Amino acid sequence: MNKKGFIFDLDGVIVDTAKYHFLAWKKLANSIGIDFSEVQNEQLKGVSRVRSLEKILEWGSTSLSQDEFMRLMGLKNDNYLSYINTMDDSEILPDVTETLNFLVEKQQGIALGSASRNARSILTKVNLLDKFQSVVDGNDVSKAKPDPEVFLIGAKLLNIEPENCIVFEDSVAGIQAANTAGMISIGIGENSVLHEADYVFKDFTKMSKTFITDIISGKIEKQSKKSINQ
Ligand code: BG6
Ligand code: MG
Repeated sequence: MNKKGFIFDLDGVIVDTAKYHFLAWKKLANSIGIDFSEVQNEQLKGVSRVRSLEKILEWGSTSLSQDEFMRLMGLKNDNYLSYINTMDDSEILPDVTETLNFLVEKQQGIALGSASRNARSILTKVNLLDKFQSVVDGNDVSKAKPDPEVFLIGAKLLNIEPENCIVFEDSVAGIQAANTAGMISIGIGENSVLHEADYVFKDFTKMSKTFITDIISGKIEKQSKKSINQ
């Protein structure tokens, strides 16, 4: 039996939490007199909480004491969690559950590789935690994407070699991390943004079961980049 390791990013791949990050960062930024746009929010995808606040402060040419920095990070997260607490399985992105079920049925390794420290609580809210054999999140890593650490730990926990792993990612940093790890990188989003990925799909509804079966069998490999189904 062919067994591969499928490693999923969370935010923007499994659930569309970018809108909640946006609302929470905007409230925080505005409270200290800094404008914050949806375009800027795009640049925070896949970026850690600490680095996100650093970037917002850079955009606003503002600096803070370490204590104030930590306090504002706490405020942002409390506000973000007020949105997360209302989530349920209706917020799972299209065909994600079907894809996970297909991989479970095919007895594949399934892991989460996310920068978020809230990953476990989000997976619990949307009732998907039991699909994952391993969860690696922002609490488990010392280096943020594009460093491959999060995915390499995921592969190790699945006990599957990196070259037999596949990463689903919506951020440029995440695709770079997967490529550096030597894994097949699959972008979920726009080809124009995620062109460094081996394959790009707009969402999971565009990814056929044949494509996944061909990955499992080894017929589809890294570096055979084709921009299909866009
Ligand atoms: C990533 C998101 O998955 O997690 C980022 O794309 C976010 O926008 C990062 O900043 C950290 O998330 P959290 O939940 O730990 O603040
Ligand atoms: Mg993401």
